[in-house]
Amino acid sequence: MTTERANFGTKLGIILATAGSAVGLGNVWRFPYMTGQNGGAAFLLIYIACVVILGVPCMLNEFIIGRRAQANTARAYSKLANGTPWRLIGLFGVFTGFMITGYYVVVSGWCLQYIYASVAGHLNGDASYVKSYFDTFAAHPWKPILWMLVFMLMCHFIISKGVEKGIERASKLMMPLLFILLVVIAVASCLLPGAGRGISFLFNPDFSCVDSKTFLGALGQAFYSLSLGMGCLCTYASYFKRDTHLTKSAAQIVAIDTLIAVLAGLMIFPAFFASYPDAADKLADPELAGQYSGPGLVFITLPNVFQQAFSGAPLIGELVALLFYSLLSLAALTSLMSLHEVSTAFFHEELKISRKWGAAIVTVLCALIGVFCSLSYGDTREWLVFGGQSLFGWFDFLTGQIFLPTGGLLTCLFLGWYVPKHIVKEEFTNEGTLRGRFFGIYLFAVRYVCPICILLIFLHQFGVI
Ligand code: PHE
Repeated sequence: MTTERANFGTKLGIILATAGSAVGLGNVWRFPYMTGQNGGAAFLLIYIACVVILGVPCMLNEFIIGRRAQANTARAYSKLANGTPWRLIGLFGVFTGFMITGYYVVVSGWCLQYIYASVAGHLNGDASYVKSYFDTFAAHPWKPILWMLVFMLMCHFIISKGVEKGIERASKLMMPLLFILLVVIAVASCLLPGAGRGISFLFNPDFSCVDSKTFLGALGQAFYSLSLGMGCLCTYASYFKRDTHLTKSAAQIVAIDTLIAVLAGLMIFPAFFASYPDAADKLADPELAGQYSGPGLVFITLPNVFQQAFSGAPLIGELVALLFYSLLSLAALTSLMSLHEVSTAFFHEELKISRKWGAAIVTVLCALIGVFCSLSYGDTREWLVFGGQSLFGWFDFLTGQIFLPTGGLLTCLFLGWYVPKHIVKEEFTNEGTLRGRFFGIYLFAVRYVCPICILLIFLHQFGVI
Protein backbone atom coordinates (compact mmCIF):
# COMPACT_ATOMS: atom_id res chain seq x y z
CA MET A 1 0.00 0.00 0.00
CA THR A 2 1.33 3.43 -0.84
CA THR A 3 1.55 5.98 1.94
CA GLU A 4 0.65 8.87 -0.36
CA ARG A 5 -3.10 9.37 -0.12
CA ALA A 6 -5.10 9.85 -3.30
CA ASN A 7 -6.48 13.30 -4.07
CA PHE A 8 -8.61 15.04 -6.62
CA GLY A 9 -6.36 16.93 -9.00
CA THR A 10 -8.24 20.17 -9.70
CA LYS A 11 -10.86 22.46 -8.21
CA LEU A 12 -13.19 21.79 -11.11
CA GLY A 13 -12.68 18.06 -10.59
CA ILE A 14 -13.73 18.40 -6.96
CA ILE A 15 -16.90 20.26 -7.83
CA LEU A 16 -17.87 18.00 -10.73
CA ALA A 17 -17.18 14.74 -8.88
CA THR A 18 -19.07 15.86 -5.80
CA ALA A 19 -21.93 17.27 -7.84
CA GLY A 20 -21.87 13.97 -9.74
CA SER A 21 -22.52 12.16 -6.49
CA ALA A 22 -25.41 14.44 -5.64
CA VAL A 23 -27.02 14.51 -9.07
CA GLY A 24 -28.60 11.16 -9.74
CA LEU A 25 -31.83 9.22 -9.83
CA GLY A 26 -32.88 11.43 -6.93
CA ASN A 27 -33.00 14.48 -9.21
CA VAL A 28 -34.34 13.03 -12.42
CA TRP A 29 -36.67 10.38 -11.07
CA ARG A 30 -37.58 11.12 -7.44
CA PHE A 31 -37.71 14.92 -7.48
CA PRO A 32 -40.26 15.22 -10.33
CA TYR A 33 -42.67 12.75 -8.80
CA MET A 34 -42.38 14.27 -5.35
CA THR A 35 -43.08 17.66 -6.92
CA GLY A 36 -45.98 16.22 -8.88
CA GLN A 37 -47.56 14.66 -5.81
CA ASN A 38 -47.06 17.72 -3.65
CA GLY A 39 -48.57 20.47 -5.74
CA GLY A 40 -45.72 21.68 -7.96
CA ALA A 41 -44.26 25.13 -7.38
CA ALA A 42 -45.12 25.32 -3.67
CA PHE A 43 -43.14 22.12 -3.10
CA LEU A 44 -40.26 23.49 -5.15
CA LEU A 45 -40.04 26.62 -2.99
CA ILE A 46 -40.10 24.65 0.24
CA TYR A 47 -37.56 22.22 -1.16
CA ILE A 48 -35.19 25.08 -2.00
CA ALA A 49 -35.59 26.47 1.52
CA CYS A 50 -34.77 23.03 2.97
CA VAL A 51 -31.76 22.59 0.76
CA VAL A 52 -30.33 25.93 1.86
CA ILE A 53 -31.16 25.69 5.55
CA LEU A 54 -30.48 21.99 6.04
CA GLY A 55 -28.46 20.85 3.04
CA VAL A 56 -25.59 23.32 3.18
CA PRO A 57 -24.74 22.83 6.91
CA CYS A 58 -25.06 19.03 6.71
CA MET A 59 -22.84 18.97 3.65
CA LEU A 60 -20.29 21.12 5.45
CA ASN A 61 -20.32 18.65 8.36
CA GLU A 62 -19.24 15.83 6.10
CA PHE A 63 -16.65 17.97 4.34
CA ILE A 64 -15.14 19.00 7.67
CA ILE A 65 -14.93 15.46 9.04
CA GLY A 66 -13.58 13.96 5.83
CA ARG A 67 -10.95 16.55 5.08
CA ARG A 68 -9.80 16.77 8.66
CA ALA A 69 -9.37 13.02 9.05
CA GLN A 70 -7.97 12.20 5.57
CA ALA A 71 -9.42 8.72 5.84
CA ASN A 72 -12.34 6.55 4.78
CA THR A 73 -15.65 7.35 6.47
CA ALA A 74 -15.42 4.76 9.25
CA ARG A 75 -11.92 5.78 10.27
CA ALA A 76 -12.66 9.49 9.83
CA TYR A 77 -15.32 9.40 12.53
CA SER A 78 -13.21 7.25 14.84
CA LYS A 79 -10.28 9.63 14.54
CA LEU A 80 -12.41 12.51 15.78
CA ALA A 81 -14.36 10.43 18.29
CA ASN A 82 -11.37 9.32 20.39
CA GLY A 83 -12.67 5.84 21.07
CA THR A 84 -16.15 6.98 22.14
CA PRO A 85 -19.28 5.37 20.65
CA TRP A 86 -19.57 8.34 18.26
CA ARG A 87 -17.13 6.46 16.05
CA LEU A 88 -19.86 4.00 15.16
CA ILE A 89 -21.60 6.67 13.04
CA GLY A 90 -18.92 6.23 10.38
CA LEU A 91 -19.26 2.49 10.34
CA PHE A 92 -23.01 2.88 10.10
CA GLY A 93 -22.50 5.15 7.07
CA VAL A 94 -20.36 2.56 5.29
CA PHE A 95 -23.00 -0.07 5.97
CA THR A 96 -25.76 2.21 4.62
CA GLY A 97 -23.69 2.93 1.52
CA PHE A 98 -23.36 -0.76 0.91
CA MET A 99 -27.08 -1.29 1.05
CA ILE A 100 -27.89 1.69 -1.19
CA THR A 101 -25.34 0.52 -3.76
CA GLY A 102 -27.04 -2.88 -3.88
CA TYR A 103 -30.45 -1.56 -4.92
CA TYR A 104 -29.42 1.66 -6.71
CA VAL A 105 -27.55 -0.44 -9.24
CA VAL A 106 -30.74 -2.37 -10.02
CA VAL A 107 -32.60 0.79 -11.08
CA SER A 108 -29.48 1.90 -12.95
CA GLY A 109 -29.56 -1.39 -14.86
CA TRP A 110 -33.16 -0.70 -15.90
CA CYS A 111 -31.94 2.52 -17.52
CA LEU A 112 -29.57 0.51 -19.72
CA GLN A 113 -32.39 -1.81 -20.79
CA TYR A 114 -34.44 1.26 -21.69
CA ILE A 115 -31.61 2.68 -23.79
CA TYR A 116 -31.65 -0.59 -25.68
CA ALA A 117 -35.46 -0.60 -25.84
CA SER A 118 -35.63 2.91 -27.27
CA VAL A 119 -33.09 2.06 -29.97
CA ALA A 120 -34.87 -1.18 -30.81
CA GLY A 121 -38.25 0.61 -30.92
CA HIS A 122 -39.66 -1.58 -28.13
CA LEU A 123 -41.32 1.30 -26.35
CA ASN A 124 -43.87 2.06 -29.05
CA GLY A 125 -47.38 1.12 -28.06
CA ASP A 126 -50.29 2.26 -25.97
CA ALA A 127 -50.21 2.95 -22.23
CA SER A 128 -51.12 -0.57 -21.16
CA TYR A 129 -48.48 -2.05 -23.45
CA VAL A 130 -45.75 0.13 -21.99
CA LYS A 131 -46.85 -0.76 -18.48
CA SER A 132 -46.80 -4.47 -19.18
CA TYR A 133 -43.43 -4.07 -20.92
CA PHE A 134 -41.97 -2.68 -17.72
CA ASP A 135 -43.67 -5.20 -15.43
CA THR A 136 -42.57 -8.14 -17.57
CA PHE A 137 -39.03 -6.86 -17.81
CA ALA A 138 -38.61 -6.06 -14.11
CA ALA A 139 -39.94 -9.49 -13.11
CA HIS A 140 -37.85 -11.37 -15.69
CA PRO A 141 -35.50 -13.92 -14.03
CA TRP A 142 -32.26 -12.80 -15.66
CA LYS A 143 -32.60 -9.75 -17.93
CA PRO A 144 -32.61 -7.08 -15.21
CA ILE A 145 -29.79 -8.95 -13.47
CA LEU A 146 -27.72 -8.94 -16.61
CA TRP A 147 -28.08 -5.16 -17.05
CA MET A 148 -27.43 -4.65 -13.36
CA LEU A 149 -24.16 -6.58 -13.71
CA VAL A 150 -23.15 -4.59 -16.78
CA PHE A 151 -23.74 -1.36 -14.88
CA MET A 152 -21.85 -2.61 -11.85
CA LEU A 153 -18.88 -3.54 -14.03
CA MET A 154 -18.86 -0.10 -15.66
CA CYS A 155 -18.73 1.43 -12.21
CA HIS A 156 -16.07 -1.03 -11.09
CA PHE A 157 -13.91 -0.17 -14.06
CA ILE A 158 -13.96 3.54 -13.23
CA ILE A 159 -13.47 3.10 -9.49
CA SER A 160 -10.54 0.73 -9.86
CA LYS A 161 -8.75 3.33 -11.98
CA GLY A 162 -8.48 5.48 -8.88
CA VAL A 163 -9.65 8.82 -7.58
CA GLU A 164 -8.05 11.21 -10.05
CA LYS A 165 -7.79 9.01 -13.13
CA GLY A 166 -11.10 7.23 -12.52
CA ILE A 167 -13.68 9.24 -10.60
CA GLU A 168 -12.45 12.72 -11.47
CA ARG A 169 -11.84 12.08 -15.14
CA ALA A 170 -15.16 10.29 -15.61
CA SER A 171 -17.04 13.08 -13.82
CA LYS A 172 -15.40 15.77 -15.92
CA LEU A 173 -16.59 13.97 -19.01
CA MET A 174 -20.01 12.88 -17.88
CA MET A 175 -21.30 15.90 -15.97
CA PRO A 176 -21.12 18.38 -18.88
CA LEU A 177 -22.67 15.75 -21.14
CA LEU A 178 -25.48 15.22 -18.69
CA PHE A 179 -26.08 18.95 -18.50
CA ILE A 180 -26.23 19.32 -22.27
CA LEU A 181 -28.63 16.39 -22.63
CA LEU A 182 -30.86 17.83 -19.92
CA VAL A 183 -30.99 21.24 -21.55
CA VAL A 184 -31.73 19.74 -24.98
CA ILE A 185 -34.64 17.63 -23.72
CA ALA A 186 -35.95 20.40 -21.48
CA VAL A 187 -36.01 22.82 -24.44
CA ALA A 188 -37.72 20.21 -26.65
CA SER A 189 -40.27 19.60 -23.93
CA CYS A 190 -40.95 23.31 -23.31
CA LEU A 191 -41.52 23.95 -27.02
CA LEU A 192 -44.38 21.44 -27.25
CA PRO A 193 -47.88 22.86 -27.78
CA GLY A 194 -49.58 22.94 -24.39
CA ALA A 195 -46.29 22.92 -22.51
CA GLY A 196 -47.07 26.26 -20.83
CA ARG A 197 -49.39 24.63 -18.29
CA GLY A 198 -46.56 22.35 -17.18
CA ILE A 199 -44.19 25.28 -16.80
CA SER A 200 -46.65 27.24 -14.71
CA PHE A 201 -47.32 24.12 -12.59
CA LEU A 202 -43.62 24.16 -11.75
CA PHE A 203 -43.26 27.88 -11.14
CA ASN A 204 -46.64 29.28 -10.01
CA PRO A 205 -47.03 28.27 -6.40
CA ASP A 206 -50.42 27.27 -5.08
CA PHE A 207 -50.02 27.21 -1.34
CA SER A 208 -53.44 25.71 -0.80
CA CYS A 209 -51.96 22.24 -1.35
CA VAL A 210 -49.24 22.66 1.25
CA ASP A 211 -49.56 20.68 4.45
CA SER A 212 -47.08 19.23 6.92
CA LYS A 213 -46.54 16.31 4.54
CA THR A 214 -45.28 18.65 1.82
CA PHE A 215 -42.83 20.24 4.17
CA LEU A 216 -41.43 17.00 5.50
CA GLY A 217 -41.39 15.40 2.07
CA ALA A 218 -39.20 18.27 0.88
CA LEU A 219 -36.81 17.81 3.80
CA GLY A 220 -36.39 14.10 3.04
CA GLN A 221 -35.87 14.80 -0.64
CA ALA A 222 -33.16 17.34 0.17
CA PHE A 223 -31.28 14.71 2.11
CA TYR A 224 -31.53 12.05 -0.52
CA SER A 225 -30.73 14.31 -3.41
CA LEU A 226 -27.63 15.81 -1.83
CA SER A 227 -26.17 12.36 -0.90
CA LEU A 228 -26.14 13.33 2.76
CA GLY A 229 -26.12 11.17 5.84
CA MET A 230 -23.91 8.21 4.99
CA GLY A 231 -20.45 9.61 4.62
CA CYS A 232 -20.39 9.69 0.85
CA LEU A 233 -19.32 13.30 0.83
CA CYS A 234 -17.06 12.63 3.80
CA THR A 235 -15.10 10.13 1.71
CA TYR A 236 -14.91 12.55 -1.21
CA ALA A 237 -13.84 15.39 1.10
CA SER A 238 -10.93 13.26 2.28
CA TYR A 239 -9.59 13.69 -1.27
CA PHE A 240 -10.07 17.48 -1.24
CA LYS A 241 -7.10 19.78 -1.11
CA ARG A 242 -6.05 21.63 2.03
CA ASP A 243 -7.02 24.94 0.45
CA THR A 244 -10.39 23.87 -0.90
CA HIS A 245 -12.94 26.48 0.19
CA LEU A 246 -15.48 24.25 1.89
CA THR A 247 -18.36 26.72 2.25
CA LYS A 248 -18.06 27.90 -1.32
CA SER A 249 -17.88 24.33 -2.62
CA ALA A 250 -20.93 23.28 -0.61
CA ALA A 251 -22.87 26.28 -1.93
CA GLN A 252 -21.84 25.51 -5.51
CA ILE A 253 -22.74 21.84 -5.27
CA VAL A 254 -26.10 22.58 -3.70
CA ALA A 255 -26.76 25.12 -6.46
CA ILE A 256 -25.84 22.65 -9.23
CA ASP A 257 -27.94 19.88 -7.70
CA THR A 258 -30.96 22.17 -7.38
CA LEU A 259 -30.54 23.57 -10.88
CA ILE A 260 -30.47 20.05 -12.27
CA ALA A 261 -33.58 19.08 -10.33
CA VAL A 262 -35.40 22.13 -11.74
CA LEU A 263 -34.20 21.26 -15.24
CA ALA A 264 -35.48 17.72 -14.73
CA GLY A 265 -38.82 19.24 -13.80
CA LEU A 266 -38.72 21.37 -16.95
CA MET A 267 -37.99 18.26 -18.95
CA ILE A 268 -40.83 16.18 -17.52
CA PHE A 269 -43.78 18.46 -16.64
CA PRO A 270 -44.20 20.40 -19.89
CA ALA A 271 -44.20 17.13 -21.88
CA PHE A 272 -46.50 15.52 -19.33
CA PHE A 273 -48.99 18.41 -19.42
CA ALA A 274 -48.78 18.56 -23.20
CA SER A 275 -49.76 14.89 -23.41
CA TYR A 276 -52.52 14.75 -20.80
CA PRO A 277 -55.20 17.42 -20.57
CA ASP A 278 -55.97 16.29 -16.99
CA ALA A 279 -52.28 16.14 -16.01
CA ALA A 280 -52.63 18.05 -12.74
CA ASP A 281 -55.38 15.70 -11.52
CA LYS A 282 -53.41 12.66 -12.57
CA LEU A 283 -50.39 13.83 -10.57
CA ALA A 284 -52.36 14.75 -7.49
CA ASP A 285 -54.60 11.67 -7.34
CA PRO A 286 -53.16 9.29 -4.75
CA GLU A 287 -55.06 6.40 -6.39
CA LEU A 288 -53.01 6.90 -9.54
CA ALA A 289 -49.76 7.37 -7.67
CA GLY A 290 -48.51 3.85 -8.44
CA GLN A 291 -48.83 4.49 -12.14
CA TYR A 292 -47.88 8.12 -12.54
CA SER A 293 -45.17 8.40 -9.95
CA GLY A 294 -42.45 6.31 -8.33
CA PRO A 295 -40.67 3.97 -10.69
CA GLY A 296 -43.76 4.26 -12.87
CA LEU A 297 -43.16 7.89 -13.77
CA VAL A 298 -39.85 7.30 -15.48
CA PHE A 299 -40.26 3.78 -16.81
CA ILE A 300 -43.98 3.57 -17.55
CA THR A 301 -45.42 7.05 -17.97
CA LEU A 302 -42.54 8.79 -19.71
CA PRO A 303 -42.16 6.46 -22.70
CA ASN A 304 -45.82 7.16 -23.35
CA VAL A 305 -45.44 10.86 -22.82
CA PHE A 306 -42.59 11.03 -25.32
CA GLN A 307 -44.59 9.07 -27.85
CA GLN A 308 -47.70 11.21 -27.52
CA ALA A 309 -45.86 14.49 -27.28
CA PHE A 310 -43.98 13.81 -30.50
CA SER A 311 -46.72 11.83 -32.23
CA GLY A 312 -46.26 13.95 -35.38
CA ALA A 313 -42.63 12.85 -35.62
CA PRO A 314 -42.20 9.42 -34.02
CA LEU A 315 -38.49 9.34 -34.79
CA ILE A 316 -37.94 12.43 -32.67
CA GLY A 317 -39.93 10.82 -29.87
CA GLU A 318 -37.64 7.78 -30.02
CA LEU A 319 -34.57 9.99 -30.09
CA VAL A 320 -35.76 11.94 -27.06
CA ALA A 321 -36.41 8.67 -25.20
CA LEU A 322 -32.92 7.47 -26.09
CA LEU A 323 -31.36 10.73 -24.89
CA PHE A 324 -33.42 10.65 -21.72
CA TYR A 325 -32.39 7.14 -20.66
CA SER A 326 -28.77 7.86 -21.56
CA LEU A 327 -28.95 10.89 -19.32
CA LEU A 328 -30.51 8.91 -16.50
CA SER A 329 -27.75 6.30 -16.80
CA LEU A 330 -25.03 8.94 -16.66
CA ALA A 331 -26.58 10.57 -13.62
CA ALA A 332 -26.95 7.20 -11.91
CA LEU A 333 -23.38 6.19 -12.75
CA THR A 334 -21.73 9.24 -11.16
CA SER A 335 -23.81 8.70 -8.01
CA LEU A 336 -23.09 4.98 -7.94
CA MET A 337 -19.38 5.74 -8.22
CA SER A 338 -19.54 7.76 -5.02
CA LEU A 339 -21.48 5.06 -3.22
CA HIS A 340 -19.01 2.41 -4.38
CA GLU A 341 -16.07 4.58 -3.36
CA VAL A 342 -17.23 4.75 0.26
CA SER A 343 -16.89 0.98 0.67
CA THR A 344 -13.87 0.69 -1.62
CA ALA A 345 -11.91 3.23 0.45
CA PHE A 346 -13.04 1.39 3.57
CA PHE A 347 -11.78 -2.04 2.49
CA HIS A 348 -8.66 -0.59 0.90
CA GLU A 349 -7.60 1.21 4.06
CA GLU A 350 -8.97 -1.04 6.78
CA LEU A 351 -7.93 -4.40 5.32
CA LYS A 352 -4.71 -2.85 3.98
CA ILE A 353 -5.29 -4.34 0.56
CA SER A 354 -4.82 -2.63 -2.79
CA ARG A 355 -7.51 -0.30 -4.12
CA LYS A 356 -8.22 -2.71 -6.95
CA TRP A 357 -8.89 -5.58 -4.54
CA GLY A 358 -10.97 -3.32 -2.32
CA ALA A 359 -13.07 -2.35 -5.33
CA ALA A 360 -13.38 -6.00 -6.39
CA ILE A 361 -14.75 -7.03 -3.00
CA VAL A 362 -17.32 -4.23 -3.08
CA THR A 363 -18.37 -5.05 -6.64
CA VAL A 364 -18.88 -8.74 -5.88
CA LEU A 365 -20.76 -8.16 -2.63
CA CYS A 366 -22.95 -5.38 -4.03
CA ALA A 367 -23.68 -7.36 -7.19
CA LEU A 368 -24.82 -10.19 -4.93
CA ILE A 369 -27.15 -7.87 -3.01
CA GLY A 370 -28.25 -6.49 -6.38
CA VAL A 371 -29.22 -9.96 -7.62
CA PHE A 372 -31.56 -10.48 -4.68
CA CYS A 373 -32.97 -6.95 -4.85
CA SER A 374 -33.59 -7.35 -8.54
CA LEU A 375 -35.31 -10.72 -8.11
CA SER A 376 -37.49 -9.35 -5.36
CA TYR A 377 -38.76 -6.34 -7.34
CA GLY A 378 -42.49 -6.30 -7.92
CA ASP A 379 -43.16 -8.87 -5.19
CA THR A 380 -43.20 -11.64 -7.77
CA ARG A 381 -41.04 -14.00 -5.70
CA GLU A 382 -42.60 -14.77 -2.39
CA TRP A 383 -39.40 -15.92 -0.72
CA LEU A 384 -38.04 -12.40 -1.10
CA VAL A 385 -41.05 -10.65 0.39
CA PHE A 386 -40.87 -9.86 4.09
CA GLY A 387 -43.70 -8.32 6.05
CA GLY A 388 -45.60 -7.43 2.89
CA GLN A 389 -42.65 -5.60 1.33
CA SER A 390 -40.03 -6.88 -1.12
CA LEU A 391 -36.33 -6.86 -0.30
CA PHE A 392 -35.95 -4.04 -2.84
CA GLY A 393 -38.65 -2.04 -1.07
CA TRP A 394 -37.05 -2.64 2.31
CA PHE A 395 -33.65 -1.49 1.16
CA ASP A 396 -35.12 1.62 -0.43
CA PHE A 397 -37.23 2.45 2.60
CA LEU A 398 -34.64 1.66 5.28
CA THR A 399 -31.75 3.46 3.65
CA GLY A 400 -33.48 6.47 2.08
CA GLN A 401 -35.95 7.20 4.81
CA ILE A 402 -34.40 5.90 8.02
CA PHE A 403 -30.64 5.44 7.75
CA LEU A 404 -29.73 8.64 5.86
CA PRO A 405 -31.60 11.02 8.17
CA THR A 406 -30.28 9.10 11.20
CA GLY A 407 -26.71 9.45 9.95
CA GLY A 408 -27.29 13.16 9.28
CA LEU A 409 -28.83 13.76 12.69
CA LEU A 410 -26.05 11.94 14.55
CA THR A 411 -23.40 13.79 12.55
CA CYS A 412 -24.95 17.15 13.48
CA LEU A 413 -24.95 16.20 17.15
CA PHE A 414 -21.40 14.86 16.89
CA LEU A 415 -19.92 17.97 15.27
CA GLY A 416 -22.18 20.46 17.00
CA TRP A 417 -21.82 19.17 20.54
CA TYR A 418 -18.96 16.67 20.83
CA VAL A 419 -16.06 17.67 18.58
CA PRO A 420 -14.21 20.64 20.14
CA LYS A 421 -15.33 23.90 18.54
CA HIS A 422 -11.80 25.01 17.72
CA ILE A 423 -11.24 21.92 15.55
CA VAL A 424 -14.44 22.55 13.63
CA LYS A 425 -13.52 26.20 13.20
CA GLU A 426 -10.00 25.38 12.10
CA GLU A 427 -11.31 23.16 9.33
CA PHE A 428 -14.10 25.59 8.42
CA THR A 429 -11.61 28.42 7.96
CA ASN A 430 -8.82 26.35 6.37
CA GLU A 431 -6.64 26.78 9.46
CA GLY A 432 -7.49 30.42 9.86
CA THR A 433 -6.63 31.45 6.30
CA LEU A 434 -10.28 32.28 5.59
CA ARG A 435 -12.38 34.71 7.57
CA GLY A 436 -15.13 32.21 8.28
CA ARG A 437 -17.85 34.84 8.23
CA PHE A 438 -20.62 32.24 8.32
CA PHE A 439 -19.19 30.13 11.11
CA GLY A 440 -21.66 31.38 13.73
CA ILE A 441 -24.66 30.70 11.50
CA TYR A 442 -23.27 27.31 10.57
CA LEU A 443 -22.77 26.29 14.19
CA PHE A 444 -26.25 27.43 15.14
CA ALA A 445 -27.72 25.44 12.25
CA VAL A 446 -25.78 22.32 13.16
CA ARG A 447 -26.54 22.52 16.87
CA TYR A 448 -30.21 23.41 16.73
CA VAL A 449 -31.90 23.89 13.37
CA CYS A 450 -30.79 20.72 11.58
CA PRO A 451 -31.33 18.26 14.46
CA ILE A 452 -34.81 19.64 15.08
CA CYS A 453 -35.76 19.49 11.38
CA ILE A 454 -34.48 15.94 11.01
CA LEU A 455 -36.28 14.88 14.15
CA LEU A 456 -39.46 16.27 12.64
CA ILE A 457 -39.00 14.07 9.56
CA PHE A 458 -38.77 11.08 11.83
CA LEU A 459 -41.72 11.90 13.99
CA HIS A 460 -43.69 12.36 10.80
CA GLN A 461 -42.52 9.09 9.34
CA PHE A 462 -43.52 7.16 12.41
CA GLY A 463 -46.87 8.86 12.37
CA VAL A 464 -46.34 10.78 15.62
CA ILE A 465 -47.09 14.11 13.93
N1 PHE B 1 -27.86 11.79 -4.37
C1 PHE B 1 -28.07 10.63 -5.17
C2 PHE B 1 -29.20 10.90 -6.14
O1 PHE B 1 -29.75 11.97 -6.19
C3 PHE B 1 -28.40 9.41 -4.37
C4 PHE B 1 -27.40 9.13 -3.31
C5 PHE B 1 -27.81 9.07 -1.99
C6 PHE B 1 -26.07 8.94 -3.63
C7 PHE B 1 -26.89 8.84 -0.98
C8 PHE B 1 -25.15 8.71 -2.64
C9 PHE B 1 -25.55 8.68 -1.32
O2 PHE B 1 -29.57 10.04 -6.87
